[in-house]
Amino acid sequence: MKKSFIYGVALAFFSVVALAGISMADNGPADIHFDTKKPVVFPHAAHQARLECGICHHGKDDAGKQVAYSEGMAIAKCESCHNKDAGMPKKLSSLKGVGHAKCKTCHKETDKKLAKCGVCHPKKK
Ligand code: HEC
Ligand code: HEC
Ligand code: HEC
Ligand code: HEC
Repeated sequence: MKKSFIYGVALAFFSVVALAGISMADNGPADIHFDTKKPVVFPHAAHQARLECGICHHGKDDAGKQVAYSEGMAIAKCESCHNKDAGMPKKLSSLKGVGHAKCKTCHKETDKKLAKCGVCHPKKK
């Protein structure tokens, strides 16, 4: 009797977590296009398949310090924090800055060929 009650509570708990998980899961677009002077097509889903969200996503606290990613946290566009008016170090004060600091750094460390401009900035045809 007691055992089945505990089991029921546990089951209810896990169902709520599972439902919340389903309704909160937002992986964003599979491919992300940055249409700047140096456009980028970023295969988001392909990166998600092998990297933790927190490798790229994080937040900011009231003191302006970086907050590590946690499951279900709001994900904002990089430029909403990384812009020239946000008091960031220069290297981190633009989309280009963080794009290179985050994307190019990992590509370079993984394989120098992945750090060539054309990998992320496809040549216009
Ligand atoms: C390799 C880096 C990387 C990884 C890993 C990654 N993302 Fe992203 N994600 C990005 C970039 C870059 C953007 C575009 C941000 C922008 O437009 O400024 C983005 C955009 C998003 C957006 C849309 C935000 C918006 O307002 O447009 C969501 C939602 C999102 N990601 C969720 C996730 C989740 C959930 C995971 C883990 C399963 C994940 N991402 C893993 C880099 C990454
Ligand atoms: C809610 C605000 C916020 C958003 C959105 C945000 N960042 Fe940041 N980021 C910060 C803060 C705060 C720091 C710490 C800055 C410092 O060192 O002074 C930081 C630091 C960084 C750094 C340097 C340290 C590190 O972790 O490597 C990189 C690179 C970076 N962010 C990339 C990104 C990218 C790429 C995106 C979009 C996918 C993004 N950030 C979105 C707030 C944000
Ligand atoms: C933590 C490491 C890491 C980060 C961060 C990262 N990447 Fe990658 N990316 C890789 C690896 C590894 C590959 C190669 C995967 C493969 O060959 O299957 C790759 C592949 C790619 C490709 C496809 C290359 C091709 O020709 O197949 C593009 C485009 C790309 N990344 C763009 C980006 C952009 C833009 C960002 C930042 C928003 C980013 N990456 C962040 C590791 C990373
Ligand atoms: C690993 C991916 C990656 C590689 C490799 C890379 N970039 Fe970028 N670059 C980005 C991202 C992401 C942005 C920000 C989004 C955008 O502006 O399209 C960016 C932005 C830029 C911008 C700013 C464009 C604008 O209008 O604001 C320039 C210029 C640029 N890159 C030049 C280069 C050059 C030159 C190389 C080779 C030496 C290079 N990038 C290699 C990812 C990369």
